[in-house]
Amino acid sequence: MNIHMKKGRPADFGKGVYVIDEQKLVDIAGGDAASLQIATLVKGILDSDDYEPPILPEVALSLTQMANRPDVDFHQVEKIVSRDPLVAAKIVAVANSAFYSRGQPVRSLSLAIARLGLAAVRDVAFQVVAQTTIFKASAYTSRMRELYAAAQLAGVIAREICIRLTFESEMAYLCGLLHDMGEAIILGIVANHCKKNKLDPYPAESVQATVELLHAQVGSRICESWGLPRVLSDAILFHHRSTESRDEANMSTVIAVTDLLLRHVGAGVPQQKINPMAEPLFYRLNLTPTQVTALLEFAEEAVQNDEQSSNK
Ligand SMILES: [Fe+2]
Ligand SMILES: [Fe+2]
Repeated sequence: MNIHMKKGRPADFGKGVYVIDEQKLVDIAGGDAASLQIATLVKGILDSDDYEPPILPEVALSLTQMANRPDVDFHQVEKIVSRDPLVAAKIVAVANSAFYSRGQPVRSLSLAIARLGLAAVRDVAFQVVAQTTIFKASAYTSRMRELYAAAQLAGVIAREICIRLTFESEMAYLCGLLHDMGEAIILGIVANHCKKNKLDPYPAESVQATVELLHAQVGSRICESWGLPRVLSDAILFHHRSTESRDEANMSTVIAVTDLLLRHVGAGVPQQKINPMAEPLFYRLNLTPTQVTALLEFAEEAVQNDEQSSNK
């Protein structure tokens, strides 16, 4: 893959709303000393000057910047995409998928781009980034696979919620796809640390407790360091406490509802069937009972399609 390094971080990286709160680290000490140790370690590594966030390939960043411009030249998009063969191949494959092809195969990249449109082309580029860069670590291989599958599903569900509510849906897939990327980042940091220092792996429950505590903050910090739009880093930061969010697009609540649906179908988390009547989050989005039922069915179908395609 043609990767251009995007090193460094903004001067206020880790400050402002993205700061990892010392008090929060101490809060878990009561439960588990090992979790505090891991959380402190992760925070220390993230805050250190020599920490390099995972690299965001240039194709993903360029497409994100272009998606915000009204006068996009498709030749320019093609030029950017063709520098990355993996992304280019995936775009042609998606354009030929049942969802987009309507029985009309496309062979060329330019036709595939025209068929998908810029936002979907950008989303495909991020799918490739998620699979090859974010949800990847030498240890935790099966968890990473699980997280990647759940991330894709989250993207599809978040977009569906926005479409049904006639919300602006352009960033919804990306918000869903990346909302739990902090978990992958933390697992990567922990795995590297153990490997480098020849340590036995930390207890899984303690690592998971750290992930639960820090993943939203870590994910939003990395997004910020990549220069991605604020709607994304805010949706990630607030997805487990959406009542505190000030985002007007309601994206953190959309992602919180997405998470609920993922739990309902057991994607990336243990399955826990939800009782829609007992979930105030649905009402915060003004979803009607009919819309809620339709979304539950949509999530169930999406996870089944996923299982079928991965069994092929
Ligand atoms: Fe989460
Ligand atoms: Fe989640």
